[in-house]
Amino acid sequence: MCGIVGYVGNKIAKDYLLDGLETLEYRGYDSAGIATLEGDTIRATKVVGRVEQLRKEEGQNPHVGSVGIGHTRWATHGGVVTKNAHPHHDMNEEFFVVHNGIIENYEEIKSFLLSKGYSFYSDTDTEVVPNLIAYHYSKTNNVTTAFQAALETLRGAYALTMITTHEPESLYVAKLSSPLAIGVADDELLVGSDALPIASRTQDVVFLEDGEMAVLNQEGYKILDIETKKSIERATEFIEIEEADGGLRGFDDFMSKEINEAPATVRSAMLGRLRVEEKLIKLGGLELVEEQLRYIDRIVVVACGTSYYAGLVGEYLLEEIAGIPVEVQQASEFRYRTEPLSRSTAVLVVSQSGETADTIAALKKLDGSGILTLGIVNAPGSTLARMTDAGVYCHAGPEKAVASTKAFVSQVTVFLLIALHLSKTYKDYEKIINELDTLPQLMEEVLKNSTDIKKLAEKYSDSKDFLYIGRRYSFPLALEGALKLKEISYIHAEGFAAGEMKHGPLALIDENFPTFAYALSSDINEKTISNMQEIKTRGGKIIAVVDDKNSNAAKLADDYILIPKVSEQLQPLIGALPAFLFAYYAAKKLGRDIDKPRNLAKSVTVE
Ligand code: AGP
Ligand code: GLU
Repeated sequence: MCGIVGYVGNKIAKDYLLDGLETLEYRGYDSAGIATLEGDTIRATKVVGRVEQLRKEEGQNPHVGSVGIGHTRWATHGGVVTKNAHPHHDMNEEFFVVHNGIIENYEEIKSFLLSKGYSFYSDTDTEVVPNLIAYHYSKTNNVTTAFQAALETLRGAYALTMITTHEPESLYVAKLSSPLAIGVADDELLVGSDALPIASRTQDVVFLEDGEMAVLNQEGYKILDIETKKSIERATEFIEIEEADGGLRGFDDFMSKEINEAPATVRSAMLGRLRVEEKLIKLGGLELVEEQLRYIDRIVVVACGTSYYAGLVGEYLLEEIAGIPVEVQQASEFRYRTEPLSRSTAVLVVSQSGETADTIAALKKLDGSGILTLGIVNAPGSTLARMTDAGVYCHAGPEKAVASTKAFVSQVTVFLLIALHLSKTYKDYEKIINELDTLPQLMEEVLKNSTDIKKLAEKYSDSKDFLYIGRRYSFPLALEGALKLKEISYIHAEGFAAGEMKHGPLALIDENFPTFAYALSSDINEKTISNMQEIKTRGGKIIAVVDDKNSNAAKLADDYILIPKVSEQLQPLIGALPAFLFAYYAAKKLGRDIDKPRNLAKSVTVE
């Protein structure tokens, strides 16, 4: 949701601002704008729509200033109209601000400012910020003091960047809950909602923490604690951003590119970690806490959406391979739950973006508890990556399609590596390590046969409802498959444990309510086949994912998708691909916006 950029340096600001907003597009937004110092005034260009449209609009009257701010908006207060797009300014156009988040007490601030004679032009919460800064400036005649005073009044969540005619060479930033990164290069300072936009200019990054502000200018950056006003020394970190491979490389969209990257994603998650010859799993990110891990007798996995479903696979893996009890909770529930956690419990957060508000809040709840916190995160230097005591990066590279695919595969791979790393006496340790090493080739085979899946998706794309079922390691696949279908094709889909059919879902089944059934080899597959029989008896159609075309499941199903046979513990990695491809091709057939489905954002950075 939403993106922020800022620039102060010796080059034209708009080049970084527009390119930077483009790298943040994957976060989802509805409008965009920039503002730059142009001589002794500030000028803004804003559009409803994509950054591409902003570029065209800006081209009509180019910005040439070298200090500026930019924003992609995800509307929370005020409709999606140009006047509500950011940047927002005070009534005298001396302070311009871009904001990610929500100002929860904006109404009371607005009525106070109206009583002081300030006027407003937009319906947003954000617009109170520049007017409040202007109000304090009128009292103090000092930009830093005015900025601090305004911040002390704001409640809610914000990442803010401001420019002003009163200090034409400075950029002001502040952070509370929503992330903000500062890039430091030789002759320029760059601001981004995360390190991705900055990576094109520098990998020396410093992150603001909650309750901090900073002033950026030719002398460098100065961080201040908003409350105490004390300055904070913080060196930059070297953030190795996997090349933001912005190109589609010939694919129609990022989702198909990222599904096809899944095998490579498994390889990159294993790289340098899976030592087949030594029969060893080396996880450098856990070395710091190896001693503490020895006393962990329970793991609580906390995540949202697809990452939560990856966590459900991780639960089976950690319990079976490492013998550790695991509970998986949705972050939005965990954060508000009153739950006793013993010191021998570790909390493991899973997140592709590392910026999901609910997951961040869940982790914040543990501040000061002494509970060991671990992370499986894809975005280096992201908030969650920096909050946890230790963790294992996914190294999947930036995932840009809103529908998460390669990240799921990568997260499950990391869970498997952690489970193997923690296992002591797992009977199939060597077998799994050897299979994992060769798994990417088998995944490539599924992708090569995607035409069959495309035909099936098109055949069923006029369905209004879909049921997904699976058992044990395939139960999370049923949930994830249902999420994929609904979030990009908008077809209603529900995932259930196959054993639940008789407890209610069977009532849904008729010839218009097809089922996507995972029926892969396992010692309990006959149970799933019985569930499929119940569905067939009631006229329900079945698409089965099988690994044996002569199996009873393949014979029973109306259609089947054949994938290579692997051990049950690896089935989620290869079994996810048919669900991704089925959802993808159904959405394509229906003409949906594949990478940016309606109502959704890539990174849910607000509650
Ligand atoms: C999945 O396709 C969705 N994009 C969404 O459920 C996502 O997985 C969820 O918002 C969690 O995001 P995170 O992994 O970045 O924390
Ligand atoms: N709450 C602000 C608005 O609705 C900012 C939303 C965002 O994060 O983009 O304009």
